[in-house]
Amino acid sequence: MSVTDRIEQLEREAQAAAAAAASTVAIEELRVRYLGRRAELPNLLRDVAQLPTDQRGAVGSAANRARKEIEALLERRAGELAVAELEARLRSERVDVTLPGDPLPAIGRLHLITQTRREIEDVFIGLGFNVAEGPEIESVHYNFDALNHDPQHPARAWTDTFYVTDEVLLRTHTSPMQVRAMERTPPPLYLIVPGRVYRRDSDVTHTPQFHQVEGLAVDEDITLADLKGTLLEFARAIFGAEREVRLRPHFFPFTEPSVEVDVSCFACSGGLAAGGERCGICKGTGWLEILGSGMVDPNVLAGVAANGYDPERVQGFAFGMGIERIAMLKHGVSDLRLFYDNDVRFLEQFA
Ligand code: DAH
Repeated sequence: MSVTDRIEQLEREAQAAAAAAASTVAIEELRVRYLGRRAELPNLLRDVAQLPTDQRGAVGSAANRARKEIEALLERRAGELAVAELEARLRSERVDVTLPGDPLPAIGRLHLITQTRREIEDVFIGLGFNVAEGPEIESVHYNFDALNHDPQHPARAWTDTFYVTDEVLLRTHTSPMQVRAMERTPPPLYLIVPGRVYRRDSDVTHTPQFHQVEGLAVDEDITLADLKGTLLEFARAIFGAEREVRLRPHFFPFTEPSVEVDVSCFACSGGLAAGGERCGICKGTGWLEILGSGMVDPNVLAGVAANGYDPERVQGFAFGMGIERIAMLKHGVSDLRLFYDNDVRFLEQFA
C-alpha cells in the first residue's frame, strides 16, 4: 500500500472511531492513538525527509492535511460529547427546590401538660364544643364581680391572688372567659377555654401557675342531665370506657346548683386494689375528684342578658378542671412540681 493510501486509511479509521466514541474520555484516548508522539501519522510526517524527493511534497501535504482533519474531527466530536455529558449530569443531579427540606430527626416530645390539654380539647371538639383562649391579665370585674363573687369572697384577698393594680390581676381561673364569651357571642354557645391561671400557692399539689380548662354550654333546655352526660363522655374518653361519674353537692359563686364531679377509679374496683389492699390512687374510696361544675347561676346570665342570655329563656352548665390534676391522676404523678422542674428523666417517660 502506498504511503498516501495508508494516510487516507488512517483518516477513515479515525473518523469511524470518533463517531463510535461515547465519551470525552474516549476522544482523549483517540487523540493519543492517532496524534500522539508514538502514533503512526505524526511519525510518517517526521520521516518525510527520508523519502525520495519526488514523493516528499505529496506525502508531506497529505499527512499534514490528514493530521489537521483528525484534529478538527476529534475537537468537534469532543465538543458534542461534552454537551451531551453536561446535559446528562444536569438531568441526573437536578434538585427540585420546591420539595420540602429533609425533616429534622424527632428530638424531644410534647410536654405532658400539652399532651393532656390536646387530649381534652379533642374530646370536647368531638362533642361539638369550640375552643377559645382569653387574657391571663384580667380585670377584677371579669375574674370575680361578673361571676357573682361576694365582695368578701376569700379568693379576692391579696394573700391568695396576684394583683397588678387594685382592679387588675392575674386570673385565678379560666371562668372569666365565660362572661367574655357570652358578651361576644349570642347563644347557643358551646365553648371550652384552656389556659394558664395564677394563685399565691406553692406545695406538693399547688404551684403559683397552673392550667385549667373551662367549659360552658348555654342553650335552651339545658339541664343537669346534659352536664352529667357530657362529663361522663369526657371521663370515659380520658380514663377508660368503663368509667362512671357521680355528682356531689358543692358551692361555687357562679353556678347554682354547684357540684363536684368524681370519676370512678381506673386503678381498682370499689377502692380495693388487685391484692385486696386499699387502692393507693383513690385512697380506697373508689372515686377520684376531677372537676368543679354546675348550672350557670341566673345572676351571671343576667349580666349578659342584653346579648340574648335572658335567664328566663336559656340555661347553661359550666365546668372547670385542672389540666395538671387530670394528668397526675391519669399517669400516677405524685408531685405537681415535677411538671415544672424540667427534669428530662421525668419528661421523657411520656412519649
Ligand atoms: N373556677 C373554679 C376554680 O377555679 C372551677 C369551676 C367550678 C369552674 C365550677 C366552673 C364551674 O366553670 O362551674 O376552682
